[in-house]
Amino acid sequence: MVRQSSLVVVANRLPLDDNAAPDGACEWRRSPGGLSGALHAILQQTAATWVGWAGGTGDAPQLPDIGSLRIRPVALSEADLRGYYEGFANSTLWPLYHDAVQPPVFHRGWWETYQAVNRRFAEAAAEVAEPRAAVWVQDYHLQLVPGLLRTLRPDLLIGFFLHVPFPPPELFMQLPRRAELLRGMLGADLVGFQRPQAAHNVAQLATKLLGAKSEDDQITLDGRMVRTGAFPVSIDVAEMQALAARPEVVRRARQLRADLGQPRRVLLSVDRLDYTKGIEHRLTAYSELLRDGRVKVRDTVMVQVTVPSRERVENYRGLRDRIEGEVGRINGEYGRVGEPAIHYLNQPFDRAELAALYRTADVMVVTPLRDGMNLVAKEFVAAREDGLGALVLSEFAGAAAELEDAFLVNPHDLDGLKETLLRAMDAQPADLAARMTAMRKHLASHDIVAWARHYLTTLDQSGRLTSWLPRQARRQTPSPASQ
Ligand code: G6P
Repeated sequence: MVRQSSLVVVANRLPLDDNAAPDGACEWRRSPGGLSGALHAILQQTAATWVGWAGGTGDAPQLPDIGSLRIRPVALSEADLRGYYEGFANSTLWPLYHDAVQPPVFHRGWWETYQAVNRRFAEAAAEVAEPRAAVWVQDYHLQLVPGLLRTLRPDLLIGFFLHVPFPPPELFMQLPRRAELLRGMLGADLVGFQRPQAAHNVAQLATKLLGAKSEDDQITLDGRMVRTGAFPVSIDVAEMQALAARPEVVRRARQLRADLGQPRRVLLSVDRLDYTKGIEHRLTAYSELLRDGRVKVRDTVMVQVTVPSRERVENYRGLRDRIEGEVGRINGEYGRVGEPAIHYLNQPFDRAELAALYRTADVMVVTPLRDGMNLVAKEFVAAREDGLGALVLSEFAGAAAELEDAFLVNPHDLDGLKETLLRAMDAQPADLAARMTAMRKHLASHDIVAWARHYLTTLDQSGRLTSWLPRQARRQTPSPASQ
C-alpha cells in the first residue's frame, strides 16, 4: 500500500547520505547542510514525501522515514548515470546555464536518457501524491518533470524551482532540444528562479519558441496560465548561527588560527570543485599579489577548501589537475618551510569544522564566474555573530543582489579583484561591522523557512496545502550592533 502525501518534493538527490556503521553495515543519515538538509527543517512539520536518487547505481535501497518525512528513492543504472546525470544535466545544461564558461557538450544519446529518467521521477511523484496535492520539483536535472506530471496527474498543483541561473536567450537557443525542454518546465503552475532576469529570459523564449503570450509574471501557453517569479533561496540561518556559537567551535577557530601560524590576516574560500566557481582566477590574483609584494607570506595566509564533486565528468577532472598544479606552483615559489602561501584542502568537510573556519577568516573570498545563489556567502554571514570579517563577493553570484554590503567584485577583472582583496584586507573594523550588521539584518528575515513559505504560498494561493507552514523565519538573528 503506497502512502500518499499532500506535499511531494522531487529533487535529483535525496536528503540522505549513506555512512558506514561501526559494524560495516550501511546506515542512512540526514545530509548535513545544502538544500536538502535545510528544507528538512520545514518538511518535518508535515507528512511530506521526498522523491530522489540515493546515489549509486542499481536497485533503489529501502530507506526509512526521517522523522515525518517519507523517502521515495528512484533507481538509476550506470547508463542512466552517464546519460542523464553526468551527460545531459552536468555536461550540457550545467555549463550552458552558467554562461558557457566551459563549452556545453551536445550529445543526442544523452537526451533520450534524460527523458527516460525524468519520466521515472514523474511516475514516482504521481504515485506518492494524494489527490490535489502540491508537487515541488527542484532544479535543472528534472526540467521535463512538470510537463510529464501534468499529463499523468492533471489534478496536481505543480511547482518548479531552478536553483541555477537561467541563461540569456542567445545561449539557450544553442540547445538542440530547446523547445521540448522549455515546454516541460512550463508544465508547472509556478516556475521560480533566483533572479527576476531569469523569468524575463524564459518569457522571451516562450514567446519565440512556443508561440506563448507573456505579460508581467504570467505566461499563457496552450490556453493554460503559468506564473513565474524570483524567489532567492537561503540557508538555515538559525542552525549555522547556533553551530558557530558552540563553545567547541569557538575553541576550534582559535586553534585553527594558531595552527596557521597566527597570521595577521586569514583569507578563506570554500567551493565545490567546479569550474563555475572562479577558483583559477582567484589563484591568479593572489599569486600576483604575492609576486608584487603587496601580500606577504607569514603576514597573510590563504585557505582554499574545495569539496570533491562530479569527479567522473571530464571537465571536472581537468580542473582539479590545474588547480592543484597552480597551488603547488604558488607554494613552491612563495612558501617557506612550515609556511605555505596557500593551505589547500580537497575533501568533504564536517559542518562544525566549516563553521570554525568561517569564524577564523578575516576575508571570505567568494568569487564565482556565475552562480545561481551561492550559499557559502550566506553561511559565512550567519556564522559571524562577532560582526567582523569581510566578504568579497562576485557580482555574478545571485547572493550579490541581496548582500549588497559585501565587497562586490567582477572576478574576470584581475586588477579589480586584486584591489578589492586588498581593500577588504585593510578595511577598518567599524566599516566591517557596519557592513556585517546590514547583511545579517537581511538574512534574519530571509532564511530557508521564509524562502519555502514565500514559494509555497505563491504556489498555493488558496492556503489549503500550506496552512502548516511556519509563519516566519526560524529565529531572528540579532545583528552585531545589538549584541
Ligand atoms: C548545485 C545544484 C544542485 C546540486 C548541487 C551539488 O548546487 O544546483 O542541484 O545538488 O550543485 O551537485 P551534485 O551534482 O553533487 O548533486
